[in-house]
Amino acid sequence: MALFEAIGVRKSFGGVEALRGVDFAVEEGEIVGLMGDNGAGKSTLVKMICGAYRPDAGRLRMDGVPVTFRSPRDAAQRGVAVVYQTLGLVDQRDVATNVFLGQEPRRFGFVDARRMRREAREVLDTLRIRIPSVRLPVGGLSGGQRQCVAIARAVHQGGRLVLLDEPTAALGPEQQANVLRLVADLKAQGKAVVVVSHNVDHVLAVADRVVVMRGGLVSGVLEVAGTSAAEIVGLILGDRAAAALDPAGALHETTRGVNR
Ligand SMILES: Nc1ncnc2c1ncn2[C@@H]1O[C@H](COP(=O)(O)OP(=O)(O)OP(=O)(O)O)[C@@H](O)[C@H]1O
Ligand SMILES: [Mg+2]
Repeated sequence: MALFEAIGVRKSFGGVEALRGVDFAVEEGEIVGLMGDNGAGKSTLVKMICGAYRPDAGRLRMDGVPVTFRSPRDAAQRGVAVVYQTLGLVDQRDVATNVFLGQEPRRFGFVDARRMRREAREVLDTLRIRIPSVRLPVGGLSGGQRQCVAIARAVHQGGRLVLLDEPTAALGPEQQANVLRLVADLKAQGKAVVVVSHNVDHVLAVADRVVVMRGGLVSGVLEVAGTSAAEIVGLILGDRAAAALDPAGALHETTRGVNR
């Protein structure tokens, strides 16, 4: 049985239909790569799964039971952790506070800052994230470091389902490899992971399945074991793939474009 399922979900923003009837499922111990061109609806689906948006139509099920999330906090309490594309960090606060955001350890009613800093350091070390001090405000960190703090928070929340929206986009090669290793670790712990990515190589490296979206619909679901970068890119591009598949090798260029 799927840990989490979305069935026929729809979401519009004014006149824009971001999701036009999407079916999506992820199992325990499975990594799903969610791919698709800009504006395909990936982030909207992620926000639907983590309780930030309510579907206009369709249903969500967790362990086969219908669920309605009132808020991301509600979803988090039921085991859905998320790292948004925009990260959702509080720039003025330090690294430790951001790792714990909303779940700060307390002692006699006050935030236990020492314990929070110690545990935040442990989380970062476990994830092999290199940040000089957990007392630094995250606003001053590099893009990659900020990304890592956001991931550390999601991992620390301890969800059964972890949603990562473009977790490697802002990272250098070493940190990218770190994040991919982290994703594999989550799977090894039996968690379900959804990774949104434009990088076909990353998805092929870690995912079990690839779900490709186009224009607010799922255009294909592929087992990684039986697919290729070219097949995935073909699904991402849809009609435009035919034009890209000319003998001049345009597909190669296109693949690089998607691999940004
Ligand atoms: N809050 C919003 N208000 C209005 N339109 C929105 C909103 N969120 C998303 N959309 C629209 O819905 C569509 C899907 O957007 P979404 O962010 O889900 O795409 P995406 O696949 O994550 O793209 P990207 O790869 O660029 O991150 C787009 O046309 C977008 O403009
Ligand atoms: Mg997005």
